[in-house]
Amino acid sequence: MLDRNNIPRHVAIIMDGNGRWAKKRLLPAAAGHNAGMKSMIEIVRHADDIGVEYLTVYAFSTENWKRSKEEVGGIFKLLVKYVDSQLRELMKNNVKVNILGDPSAFPGEAVQRLDKMASETKDNTDLVFNIAVNYGGREEIRRACESIGKDVRDGSLAPEDISEEEISRRLWTGMYDVPDPELLIRTSGEERLSNFLLWQCAYSEFVFADALWPDFTPEEMDKAIETYQKRNRRFGGR
Ligand code: FPP
Repeated sequence: MLDRNNIPRHVAIIMDGNGRWAKKRLLPAAAGHNAGMKSMIEIVRHADDIGVEYLTVYAFSTENWKRSKEEVGGIFKLLVKYVDSQLRELMKNNVKVNILGDPSAFPGEAVQRLDKMASETKDNTDLVFNIAVNYGGREEIRRACESIGKDVRDGSLAPEDISEEEISRRLWTGMYDVPDPELLIRTSGEERLSNFLLWQCAYSEFVFADALWPDFTPEEMDKAIETYQKRNRRFGGR
């Protein structure tokens, strides 16, 4: 049974398996991403219902550009569709959306919708829903280093003052005051971090679910959280 008094504050999810879900049905990858979007909508609702405070999903990695133009274009279209169909519900449920990553290289239409969703929801106070797009963990750390380097050069930051907190603050998550995730879930049976939240997952519990992302239901999410709840987090202590 899910312990409602021990819900992780921040759950991060690598939504993997859309392609295999589509392939099993002899459908194009785009059909898998479409089904994946539906699954994501259900999981956002569920996370909000059970009291998760921060939910972060990996929607497009810096490596995803290697896929066919058709597939990548389909994901951009889906982002537009997501905002157009969901913004009203996100507002109703008081969900705040942050975009992690740098979508500036996406088509204008997608950038415009992402900006609109972030700006319209910015004062909402319930679930914080972070969507990582054109996101890479190493790139995020590199940018933090660049920004620190500039401040050191300008003399506004002393090298001795480069604390872990200072680095955290300069990550995309830090810009929105998002704490580190207690739980990271990856679906589809793969057990890799794939450049997601590298710095932030230093002490996170990892739970790997066999379900392909479009088959990942709220019940599956509860199971992953139950697995997390059974673990004994020691942070290096005894
Ligand atoms: C991984 O499955 C999934 C992605 C690369 C894209 C995730 C996108 C969505 C869930 C669509 C909705 C998102 C938004 C924000 C509208 P995969 O294609 O790598 O699966 P595979 O490993 O089986 O090929």
